[in-house]
Amino acid sequence: MTIPVFRPSYGEEEFQAVREVMASGWVGLGPKTAEFEKRFAEYLGVRHAVALNSGTAALHLAMVAAGLGRGDEVISTPLTFVSTNHAILYVGARPVFADVEAETANIDPRSVRRRITKKTRAIVCVHYGGRPCKMDELEAIAREHDLALIEDAAHGCGGEHRGRKLGAIGRFGAFSFHAVKNLATGEGGAIVTNDDDAAARLRKLRWLGISRDTWTRGSQAQYSWYYTVEEVGFKYHMNDIPAAIGLVQLARLDEMNARRAAWAARYDEALRDLAWIQRPAVEPGTKPDWHNYVIQTDQRDALNAFLAQRGIATGVHYIPNNHYDMYKKCRGRTPVCERIWKRLLTLPLYPDLAEADFGRILAGIREFGRSKGLNG
Ligand SMILES: Cc1ncc(COP(=O)(O)O)c(C=O)c1O
Repeated sequence: MTIPVFRPSYGEEEFQAVREVMASGWVGLGPKTAEFEKRFAEYLGVRHAVALNSGTAALHLAMVAAGLGRGDEVISTPLTFVSTNHAILYVGARPVFADVEAETANIDPRSVRRRITKKTRAIVCVHYGGRPCKMDELEAIAREHDLALIEDAAHGCGGEHRGRKLGAIGRFGAFSFHAVKNLATGEGGAIVTNDDDAAARLRKLRWLGISRDTWTRGSQAQYSWYYTVEEVGFKYHMNDIPAAIGLVQLARLDEMNARRAAWAARYDEALRDLAWIQRPAVEPGTKPDWHNYVIQTDQRDALNAFLAQRGIATGVHYIPNNHYDMYKKCRGRTPVCERIWKRLLTLPLYPDLAEADFGRILAGIREFGRSKGLNG
């Protein structure tokens, strides 16, 4: 059987949680979603979490809540899933690409500084692979220039930067609970913030701009049919099925992330003597959540093909977004990104990776190195 790059970790508790919510008669936006929001906010140490149906929705709402629109520039990274940059376009603003750091593939604060103009309103950073960005520098830039700092924490669920949880540092944090993420509900997302007014607005925006959701109205002594619509919102809310899965996954998150970290340490140790492989670098003072383990090598494509033949899947995260025609005209040259993206290869990493499969992956990498005379 092929060893996948990602695999969610589910047990009896998740199955039971889904059964319970289906039997309860309420599977829409309801009590499980509210409980998930409360627990997730507590876990991160933020005042508010608003649960959504995707990370893309979270990014879009972050742009809306930050007040971004036509004529505004948002400094972003090209090395991300395209949602990050599409969200900027959704509100009519313009992505401006900053370059990335060669070692971490995260946005480079020095490049961010060089991209600032009178039109810059926000910075969006992605914790690539779950390894934290240089948040001190990014926060300082945002403060100096009065910019909204938005964290795309899709990869960063449970990771920390100097004791603060990723996603809880910027003005808004956007999370994805998509099938391959560290906390996986199939589809799902959340936006988190410490801003009370923004959170109140986000609750309406995720539900078409309606003033009070069905659960709130239904849970009062008498069902209240009345509501008003205050602005154009979206159909972005989470429902109680992913929320129920999310509650179990959240309770298991630290333990699952610890298992990811243990596999990452095993990879580090096992690949140490292979000079043709550059292991992923970690910022001092940070704790990655090891969403994925990305090596760099000049042999990227050949290694990918070699491992695929042996039933081992690897991934490329990502094709730089400024390679897509629709993003080509965006400002910002990114030479470091151009150099390193061709070298990036994501190895299989997930909590339930089997010891025998890990052995197969390492054997495959070593065999490839030997066949090319690279192992030294
Ligand atoms: C960096 C990044 N941002 C945003 C997203 C979008 O999340 P979703 O698929 O939940 O919309 C993803 C993953 O899918 C991602 O990897």
